[in-house]
Amino acid sequence: MLDVKKFVDETEALLRRELQGNGIIACSGGTDSTLLAVLCSISVRERVTAVFVDTGLVRASDIENIRKLFSTYSLRGLVLDRSDRFFSALRGVTDPEEKRKIIGRTFIEVFEEIASELGAEYLLQGTIAPDWIESGGGVRDTIKSHHNVGGLPENMKLKLIEPLRDLYKDEVKHISESLGIDAVKQPFPGPGLAVRIIGEVTREKADTLRKVTDIVEEMVESSHGEVGKPWQYFSVLLPFRTTGVHGDKRSYGLTVGIRIFDSIDGMSGTFTKPSWSFLETLSTRITNEVPEINRVVYDITNKPPGTIEWE
Ligand code: XMP
Repeated sequence: MLDVKKFVDETEALLRRELQGNGIIACSGGTDSTLLAVLCSISVRERVTAVFVDTGLVRASDIENIRKLFSTYSLRGLVLDRSDRFFSALRGVTDPEEKRKIIGRTFIEVFEEIASELGAEYLLQGTIAPDWIESGGGVRDTIKSHHNVGGLPENMKLKLIEPLRDLYKDEVKHISESLGIDAVKQPFPGPGLAVRIIGEVTREKADTLRKVTDIVEEMVESSHGEVGKPWQYFSVLLPFRTTGVHGDKRSYGLTVGIRIFDSIDGMSGTFTKPSWSFLETLSTRITNEVPEINRVVYDITNKPPGTIEWE
């Protein structure tokens, strides 16, 4: 098991040594960038500004949580709404790898602009090992280009600092718990809901998926152990319509896939096996509360062969 004190001491020393000016921390509110922000708040607080970009593809709770994080750790923090820009960059794009790269690039453009306004030369990212391994940085094929790796332009002006590069998710969790960081409940991908909307991403689809996501999160988190403590629990919006009935009228609505998944480190794992009654309540709530949806399916694919996210 990783020696937390040694890791924290070495990372703080690295931050002080490498950050030779002002920097911005790319904060998504997820486990990795939250740990990075906390480590920065201990060692280089005066030199950093934490930036959360609202892409329009985040959950409502992400924005609330990030504001709390900034205030708890007295970090200078900015929440920037750039959703128009992300939706317009993604217009007409359906290929998952292209989506990820566009999102990565758009993030960097926004970070470069804000860095230039703030006079910052460094970009601090919470990239961890699976991000660059799955992006093809190791000996393997590209499984998926993580937005914080695959979208980086070769001529990026900002100097990159990534102190968590060698960690795996379970180690990030362990360090975060040891530091008493208010547990981020589950991982959330940097490209956000974009990789959970199969096909073209639009604001309307993101709004629909956000409503379903809230229901899934609420039901799992209040299930009192019915599904244990899954690694991740979320929904995916599928790119086709099917026939159904709403009231006594025909509907031609959207389908969501539900993914509830057990894993130790995110690199492999198995689908969670909730009771039929839990799944039935979940399905009934989704179709009652989100009128755009008339069909709910449950994903029973392990990793491998499926990845956890669908794109
Ligand atoms: P996959 O889908 O590759 O996911 O089995 C493994 C873990 O990584 C998360 N994930 C991402 N996290 N940027 C991130 O920060 C990304 O582009 C990304 N893609 C997947 C995923 O949610 C799971 O926890």
